[in-house]
Amino acid sequence: MSKLFQNYKRADIEFVQAEGNNLIDTDGKKYLDFSSGIGVTNLGFHPQVNAALMKQAEKMWHQPNLYQNSLQEEVATKLAGDKDYLAFFCNSGAEANEAAIKIARKASGKQEIITFINSFHGRTFGSMSATGQDKIKEGFGDVVPHFKYATFNDLDSVKSLVTTDTAAIMLELVQGESGVKPADATFITELATYCKDNGIFLIVDEVQTGMGRTGKLFAFEHYGIEPDIFTLAKGLANGVPCGAMLAKSELGHAFSYGSHGSTFGGNKLAMAAASATLDVMIEPDFFGSVAKHAQSLVSQLQSALSNNQKVTEIRALGYMIGIETSEDLGQLVAEARDKGLVVLTAGTNVIRLLPPITLTETEISRGVEILKSVFE
Ligand SMILES: Cc1ncc(COP(=O)(O)O)c(C=O)c1O
Repeated sequence: MSKLFQNYKRADIEFVQAEGNNLIDTDGKKYLDFSSGIGVTNLGFHPQVNAALMKQAEKMWHQPNLYQNSLQEEVATKLAGDKDYLAFFCNSGAEANEAAIKIARKASGKQEIITFINSFHGRTFGSMSATGQDKIKEGFGDVVPHFKYATFNDLDSVKSLVTTDTAAIMLELVQGESGVKPADATFITELATYCKDNGIFLIVDEVQTGMGRTGKLFAFEHYGIEPDIFTLAKGLANGVPCGAMLAKSELGHAFSYGSHGSTFGGNKLAMAAASATLDVMIEPDFFGSVAKHAQSLVSQLQSALSNNQKVTEIRALGYMIGIETSEDLGQLVAEARDKGLVVLTAGTNVIRLLPPITLTETEISRGVEILKSVFE
């Protein structure tokens, strides 16, 4: 009998090796991975990241944040690009969002944060309280106060919740866990302007949408905005636990000496992997080809599935793809896996695809073929 808490529903299968964009199970069966470990191994099992990890593992794994860390400086510089952001490193998306909530409150001197119905921001008390889904909070007692939940894509509903104590508005640009729902472009540009005009911080949770997932390094680039604060995790170190909170440098005073910290945050192995991941992604032609292939996957899915009675809608931003269906999700996932394709679900009625952003055309065609036969 398992000695683990039964808080996950696990399929009766174990993957023991990765090769490029494929996974291999204990029986040696090979699967095309359209899940990236829930949006984490965005580059697949990548030789450049592997080499960086091996090299760092030979030198040193960990040093506390009591000393200079040139790898952290390197990753922060690559993440900020030509923008004026400072970075704090941690180990997960929930921790990154905790840091975002804390800096927003401290820098503004205000308490309230508006998030959105059906959002997902994590499982710690702060990030769970930010999450706009009751089922995530059930049984855990009082949540952190001063969170309010607006309707996604509805600026009036946001405005109706704003008070003189509103510190920030926090959102995912594509609601991932609740069903792959992209934000409307006008909603986001108007929201960003509203935040600026009213001295409210805009926090973008890029934990799932970031690190190339949507065809750009960060999803906010699609919307032509620059958040005051944004968070990363999942794909940041392509599979090594790592999170980050970035905020405009004028908020730096709020995270002064002693205000916040993490033992493992910015760990050398994680930073070496993150730095190598970013090196791949910031190559000049990289995202041009990612966006082209993602578009090819989405249009092949549209032509294979849009006439299928069981598919109600296909939604996508880059390689973040949701296939809404009336069918039993568990059965569809199991059938896809039997046929050699690993997919995810989201919400109650969506098959979610978060493939490595390095898919080849051959892999795209094979994945689409399997999904077509599963839905038929
Ligand atoms: C948008 C978003 N924020 C935060 C999280 C929490 O990240 P983690 O599980 O690394 O704490 C997730 C995880 O799915 C997520 O999708």
